[in-house]
Amino acid sequence: MFGFYKVVKGTAFTSQSITEVAILEDYLFCLNQEGLIEKLIAPTDDIYEATLVEYQETTHYTEIPKGHFILPGFIDLHVHAPQWPQSGLALDKPLYDWLNTYTFPLEAKYGDVTFAKQVYEHLVDELLSLGTTTVLYFGTIHKKANLVLAEVCATKGQRGLVGKVVMDDPEANPDYYRDSSTEKALKDTEDFIKEIKELSKHTKQGVYPVVTPRFIPSCTEEGLRGLGDLAQKYDVHVQSHCSESDWAHQFVYDKFGQSDTHSLKEFGLLTDKSVMAHCGFLSDDDATTFRETGTAVAHCPISNAYFGNTVTRVKQLLHDFQVDVGLGTDISGGFSPSLYDNMKQAVMSSRMLNDGVDFEQAPENRGVSGSNITLNEAFYLATSGGGKALSLPIGELKEGYSWDIQVVSTEHLPIFGIETLEETFQKLIYLMKPEQIREVWVQDQLVYKQ
Ligand code: GUN
Ligand code: FE
Repeated sequence: MFGFYKVVKGTAFTSQSITEVAILEDYLFCLNQEGLIEKLIAPTDDIYEATLVEYQETTHYTEIPKGHFILPGFIDLHVHAPQWPQSGLALDKPLYDWLNTYTFPLEAKYGDVTFAKQVYEHLVDELLSLGTTTVLYFGTIHKKANLVLAEVCATKGQRGLVGKVVMDDPEANPDYYRDSSTEKALKDTEDFIKEIKELSKHTKQGVYPVVTPRFIPSCTEEGLRGLGDLAQKYDVHVQSHCSESDWAHQFVYDKFGQSDTHSLKEFGLLTDKSVMAHCGFLSDDDATTFRETGTAVAHCPISNAYFGNTVTRVKQLLHDFQVDVGLGTDISGGFSPSLYDNMKQAVMSSRMLNDGVDFEQAPENRGVSGSNITLNEAFYLATSGGGKALSLPIGELKEGYSWDIQVVSTEHLPIFGIETLEETFQKLIYLMKPEQIREVWVQDQLVYKQ
């Protein structure tokens, strides 16, 4: 008797390092009652046959059909849930105008919890259907609507990390959309942390509160310091935007005479549970501070093509500075809710950074050589890198990790029996269509089925 709660037989792809993807062909994935992976059994292992014999004819056994594969559920490190209704809109504006003309008026509508529920249910369904099992969300300034978002995640089975956005500087934010005072912003954040911690007790996959200063330009110093204190007091995740765009990067230099990174650090906002979006303008010194504090980068390649004014040097951050990096869609700065789309864009953007784009420059001066990432590295960002960024046992198929998976079909792919499994993996990632994502599970709970 092996005592596993459930055994799943199938072929899976999972990152085993930043650059390598392991192919687990015909493995047995043995799960416990909490939905965690207790043991991986390879066909060459002694107990493989005996395990199959014990479970095969029982209701605790599942075999993934031929032509279908298991991938880890994806981890989206940067989503603005309230911006979902404007995905694909208004992307021709620069960041400052986009925020003030479109985004803040939309986010202000979430004082209405009925509207919030309608949008948040639609968004969580969409993300689950695209294989995204864990999401780090920005909400709005409204405590009630943020609670609705966390409840929607809890109910639908997504692992949601949700932040009440703080924008407390009356000089910097419109009167119709800002915290009424710094004191209130901090109190709402603290109450929200307590409420989400309570909700999490009754949620198998967990929901988590996140300390969320929108970005330095929208907050007072007192607010930022107070949020740093709350992050420490409750040992919770922290998120913000960091060094995104010429404008935002320069704003912080003009205000504090130093970078976002050093300012955030002084306010106590860089911890091993911090995830900072974008980071296109990190200096070597900033990157070293990220590593030393355990702070992670949420790379948002589609959004950055519109608002970033640069390509984040992911390759160097990962390999030279050993910073944790994952992927974010940045809905709606990024128009696509799909991490498949963002993996592809991460590869393409890195190649353009590597080679450069101005043909009038000589090839050796045109780009930043050593910048291109591979498809395997992009897959790492969407899975294992995201798990490490959040310091949670997710994003990999290995013992002790959560059974967060997507079952994908090769049915629509140009596969003619001549390709290796490694080549099949490449086609799956590059050519995936949403309808090929057949099932999605979070901690062994079925959350989406086609
Ligand atoms: N900086 C401050 N707020 C935002 C936002 O909502 N989206 C993006 N991309 N950048 C921001
Ligand atoms: Fe953002």
